[in-house]
Amino acid sequence: MNSENRIYLKEIDQNFLSQLREIDCACLGSFWSLETYQREIDNPNSLVLGLVTEDHELLGFGCLWSILEEAHITMLAVRPEYQGQGLGRAIVWGLLKKSRDRNLEWATLEVRVSNQAAIALYKSFGFQEIGRRPNYYEVTGEDALLLWCKGLHTQEFATLLENWHDEISVKLLAKGWNL
Ligand SMILES: CC(C)(COP(=O)(O)OP(=O)(O)OC[C@H]1O[C@@H](n2cnc3c(N)ncnc32)[C@H](O)[C@@H]1OP(=O)(O)O)[C@@H](O)C(=O)NCCC(=O)NCCS
Repeated sequence: MNSENRIYLKEIDQNFLSQLREIDCACLGSFWSLETYQREIDNPNSLVLGLVTEDHELLGFGCLWSILEEAHITMLAVRPEYQGQGLGRAIVWGLLKKSRDRNLEWATLEVRVSNQAAIALYKSFGFQEIGRRPNYYEVTGEDALLLWCKGLHTQEFATLLENWHDEISVKLLAKGWNL
């Protein structure tokens, strides 16, 4: 394994702002501005979690808001050229681990009904559909599915997190990434 294949899940600071925007534009067609990312980084109730190489390349990231006992996942994106290798799964794992570390009890998110890749990814962590928001996305008028994952604070979930970590690491190693 080359050292350049080492990757880390880490809380992102403003040194990564331009890369956040780059990935946002490539994956989400410019969803949040630089100012919004800066606000998310500065807000103690927000988390911006990145997957970063030793050369400080940001491969992908996810964001959440802590709202009382809830972790609301607001953003998830992996650079297009690195998708399909297990990196998105590692980021969602990191968001759930950090949520548990912050004593949050459940996670929620909205996802486009057409985004089968993301829906499959979230369901692999036990997210379930609990509702639908009609015409949620302004430009396309597409509906959002509301997903949630409960019991983050339980011992059962801690065990699941450990198992998922092993499974994710093995899959990433096979693709040349050492998490
Ligand atoms: C969604 C996204 C973050 C997934 O990242 P990724 O690194 O490609 O995902 P992974 O390789 O970790 O895949 C994890 C799981 O997602 C699902 N998945 C990923 N790509 C898929 C595809 N093209 N079709 C169907 N399922 C897919 C699979 O269940 C996969 O697990 P498997 O490999 O065991 O089958 C990435 O596609 C992305 O950035 N999309 C654009 C932005 C976006 O839609 N964000 C989500 C907003 S809620």
